[in-house]
Amino acid sequence: MLFNKFYRYLSKLPTLIHHQTRKLSTEKIIQDQRLSNITVTSFYCQTAIEQLALKQSTRLSPLTMMYTGKNDDDRHLLRSAQYLHKDLPIRLAHRITDFRNLPFVVACNPLLLELHEHFIKIFHTLHSFPPIKTLEHEKLYTQLLQDTLDCSSNTLPLLVEGFRESQRYIKQETLVRNFLDNALTFRLAIKMLIEHHLELRKTKPNHIGLICTNFSPKKHIEASVEYVQALCHATYGIAPDVTIDGHVNSSFPYITPPLSYIVPEMLKNAFRATVEYHRKSNGKLPKVAVTISVDNDELLLRIKDRGGGMPSSLLNKIYDYHFSSNNLSDESSMFSYTDFDNHLYDQLAKRNTQHRMSGYGFGVPTSRAYCEYLNGSLTYETMASIGTDVYIRVGLLTSENRIVRL
Ligand SMILES: Nc1ncnc2c1ncn2[C@@H]1O[C@H](COP(=O)(O)OP(=O)(O)OP(=O)(O)O)[C@@H](O)[C@H]1O
Ligand SMILES: [Mg+2]
Repeated sequence: MLFNKFYRYLSKLPTLIHHQTRKLSTEKIIQDQRLSNITVTSFYCQTAIEQLALKQSTRLSPLTMMYTGKNDDDRHLLRSAQYLHKDLPIRLAHRITDFRNLPFVVACNPLLLELHEHFIKIFHTLHSFPPIKTLEHEKLYTQLLQDTLDCSSNTLPLLVEGFRESQRYIKQETLVRNFLDNALTFRLAIKMLIEHHLELRKTKPNHIGLICTNFSPKKHIEASVEYVQALCHATYGIAPDVTIDGHVNSSFPYITPPLSYIVPEMLKNAFRATVEYHRKSNGKLPKVAVTISVDNDELLLRIKDRGGGMPSSLLNKIYDYHFSSNNLSDESSMFSYTDFDNHLYDQLAKRNTQHRMSGYGFGVPTSRAYCEYLNGSLTYETMASIGTDVYIRVGLLTSENRIVRL
């Protein structure tokens, strides 16, 4: 009975959430009785959020996720859904609390308000799903997770633009940094956890859910280089070559989404610096060099360019969100951010100009937040008028000393 009711609601969900993501329309919300109960303005009636925000979420180690992988009778799907059913609302409650702790003038920004409402809506949808006891329930819940993922894919521009618009009202830089670090790593974690669950249903060679059991850093870097070279050619008509050395034959279990963001972002910065610094010299562009190093605990990638480096005054700013030496004009589309998957080659082939080499000031701080989330770090060494080395460190899933938890 409860599930039938929920199923009817579920069929309407993508439309409901999409309304919210696209445009904040007060009329629409009021028209829909159900939604009118769960907006930001009904702040005081949301005790479930307050209660769950007091709980700690359970961050799983991917190694545990890998070993509890698959059972022939699909019990693993049930266990995975039950975990998400309990944990996702707690994580969402924490993020909603973060919105509530923002200064009033920032929280009132229409784009941030829209995002806040989106989170509340998802929270209520996931939290009100009845307990999952059978594989039938699990199927319904999985459909809900897929819809949640689809509906949330366009939320990054809201976050980026919302904070850009409210920047002039912000007095405490650390507040913004902490909020954005948490919000971005939350997006990453939710995406990985949901995708892992969805992938558990499929049989893909060398994969357990989202975890690739023989991840090759070299192959991953080569794919990123191909993408960034195409983007660089489309932007400047020229692109540097790349060498890859070090532990090129290494492979180990890993989850690709964070590196699929970090590596292209760091390559884009190195390519841009190289092209812009040497453009006028008419000579051949110096190569960008990537070195791979793997030990028992971490994967370390060094990306070295000869793109003129940075003065130390600039180096202090690059970790700030929205800092860019290539400020985009205001008329630039707000839907043009690089996100986990939207840098696919076919989009470039269609000459989609949405993707840019630089300009938002999100590449470095987001990559650093992701590295730290994976028990690693992102550091820069730069030599003015020479070039820059970026060190990307992430903990290995198999490490006993640096346990990574999602
Ligand atoms: N390898 C590098 N060489 C020289 N300058 C760099 C390098 N990497 C980063 N920077 C400087 O740091 C700034 C911030 O980098 P970040 O990647 O965060 O933003 P962006 O590249 O301007 O925009 P986007 O968000 O699109 O990546 C850049 O604008 C650039 O000035
Ligand atoms: Mg960048």
